[in-house]
Amino acid sequence: MAVIETIDLTKKYGAFTALDNFNLSIEEGEIFGFIGPNGAGKTTTIRILATLLAPTSGKAFVAGNDVSKDPRAIKKILGYMPDDFGVYDGMRLREYLDFFGAAYRIPGRERKSIIDDVLQLTDLTSKADEYVSAFSRGMKQRCCLAKTLIHNPTVLLLDEPASGLDPRARIEMKELLKTLSGMGKTILVSSHILSELGDMSTKIGIIERGKLLASGNVKDILAGIRQALELRIEAIEGGDAVEAALKSTPGIAGYERSGGDFHVRTNMGREEMAELHARIVRDGARLLFFGEEQGSLEDLFLTVTKGGV
Ligand SMILES: Nc1ncnc2c1ncn2[C@@H]1O[C@H](COP(=O)(O)OP(=O)(O)O)[C@@H](O)[C@H]1O
Ligand SMILES: [Mg+2]
Repeated sequence: MAVIETIDLTKKYGAFTALDNFNLSIEEGEIFGFIGPNGAGKTTTIRILATLLAPTSGKAFVAGNDVSKDPRAIKKILGYMPDDFGVYDGMRLREYLDFFGAAYRIPGRERKSIIDDVLQLTDLTSKADEYVSAFSRGMKQRCCLAKTLIHNPTVLLLDEPASGLDPRARIEMKELLKTLSGMGKTILVSSHILSELGDMSTKIGIIERGKLLASGNVKDILAGIRQALELRIEAIEGGDAVEAALKSTPGIAGYERSGGDFHVRTNMGREEMAELHARIVRDGARLLFFGEEQGSLEDLFLTVTKGGV
């Protein structure tokens, strides 16, 4: 069963349509990368799912609960981290978490151990008694996530959690999301930068101008876009042998060569590729790489958002 589902979800701000008959479905346990350029409608979708914004028409469900009919049931199981998270001045981290624990009506005696767990999970235990306002952006982000986890939500909506983070903080955020996923939580995480999410998401959805352009795993989306496979061959020796083999192999639509590096367009099957590989090696080339080109995620994004799908 889908944990998150929208059916013809539409949101208008006055005359402007921010979400246009938007249909999204996210299964239990996914880390779903919700990707689209600025202004695409990501935050609008997330705020509707978090029951903070009413749709103009259509429906949205979280764990089977209708956002319009059962917001309280959703709030219990949902952790929402906004993109414009603020932290409170003059509060130490433990006080900050205790404040939110109290807001969720977690009894005082349980709160301490829950806060300890959440601190450990977000790797902030050593900072528990420091002032939140003095933290780096990456640490503030983790604080905010810690706060989001305090009522042990099963569904997480994280709006651009990696934005503005340095590469190291971003890796830590990814690791944390993987850990949370391992705990069985369903996670929707948004970004306007595809490469930020592509390698950590189990599925991605691409949104542009309020419409879902593609949804599924990255490989399937790529396969749907590409007519022909791109093969890359990198020879550290014997580039001419590679070129000779390419010229005499049927099923090669074209190639570009730069030194020992080849980009080949082909519709060959796996058997024929293996045969080509064997032949090149037999003919004396020394290969560093022979395989399908992993189209960069940015390329995929550009292709999809140009209306390629
Ligand atoms: N309160 C609002 N009033 C008018 N327009 C809005 C409002 N909130 C968002 N929008 C517009 O709706 C579109 C989608 O915004 P948003 O959901 O924030 O996109 P994203 O999060 O993908 O950047 C944008 O064009 C934005 O300017
Ligand atoms: Mg946004």
